[in-house]
Amino acid sequence: MVVLVTGAGGQLGQSLQFIAPNYPDIQFVFCDSSTLDITNLNNVKQLFKQIKPNFCINAAAYTAVDKAESEPEKAYLINVVGAKNLATVCKEFDTILLHISTDFVFDGTKKTPYTEEDIPNPEGVYGQTKLDGEQAIQEIWHKHFIIRTSWVYSQFGNNFMKTMLRLAAERDKISVVNDQIGTPTNAVDLAEVLVKICTSIFHLPSSNLFGIYNFSNEGQCSWYFFAKKIFEFNNIKINLEPIPTTSFPTPAKRPGYSVLDKSKIKNTFGPEISGGVKYWETSLNEIEKE
Ligand SMILES: NC(=O)c1ccc[n+]([C@@H]2O[C@H](COP(=O)([O-])OP(=O)(O)OC[C@H]3O[C@@H](n4cnc5c(N)ncnc54)[C@H](OP(=O)(O)O)[C@@H]3O)[C@@H](O)[C@H]2O)c1
Repeated sequence: MVVLVTGAGGQLGQSLQFIAPNYPDIQFVFCDSSTLDITNLNNVKQLFKQIKPNFCINAAAYTAVDKAESEPEKAYLINVVGAKNLATVCKEFDTILLHISTDFVFDGTKKTPYTEEDIPNPEGVYGQTKLDGEQAIQEIWHKHFIIRTSWVYSQFGNNFMKTMLRLAAERDKISVVNDQIGTPTNAVDLAEVLVKICTSIFHLPSSNLFGIYNFSNEGQCSWYFFAKKIFEFNNIKINLEPIPTTSFPTPAKRPGYSVLDKSKIKNTFGPEISGGVKYWETSLNEIEKE
């Protein structure tokens, strides 16, 4: 079984590389942006011709949420044209596409966890391009799993946890918003789920399981509470102040509430996945400290 991973240099890509040795039966091909540019259709085709992957996990994306407001063309190129290219080539080579999307496709006005049936209404360029990317894949190639996730962090790459740890080394006091609610997701847990989907599907000659699925760790919190736990688990004493979103204006508006309902992925893939979804605090506490 050959699994191609695009965007292998990002935090999800590196998390997939981290767990790959646990799956000796899978031949992973990891490509970062310098070896495979997903916006270049010929580049993608050439690689597929060479390695003929059974699965393609698209971990490549434009993820700079605020910067996207001032460079929408770049965000569109990577998140929409890139997704389209992968879907087109996956169709040509009968490869199953696993694509990652985001809680930012929602406007956050709901007060209960978002299901896959809820109507998206992104509030910024990043969320819009991720939604457009999802829709492009749905139109082109039915053999896809679109996994929406939230608040991704890991020991790899850039993320909120790393930012908090850096700021704590530079400042005595940190202010963090306390009125946006979501679920932090360890990229390594997400990586495990993606690989488990590949292994479950590989043995099914035909599958009617394709579609959109939510996945995050369990539980929910505010960014403030997330920061509090990051400092607690790293034994860092700091003056941490909860503030409202109105006191921390950003170029892109974020959903006030974006907890994802995981019933569908748990019910579909059973104990393999549902038994292993960790509470966000457990996963955060277990992360390798640098
Ligand atoms: N981070 C979050 O909080 C979060 C939340 C919800 C959903 N997601 C989704 O989860 C997925 C993984 O996110 P992540 O946090 O791992 O992102 P990340 O760390 O920013 O990694 C994205 C990777 O994509 C690569 N890339 C950019 N343009 C490319 C191109 N044209 N061709 C190939 N690779 C390209 C980047 O490489 P360069 O650095 O070399 O450009 C980078 O290594 C994304 O789909 C994201 O939208 C993330």
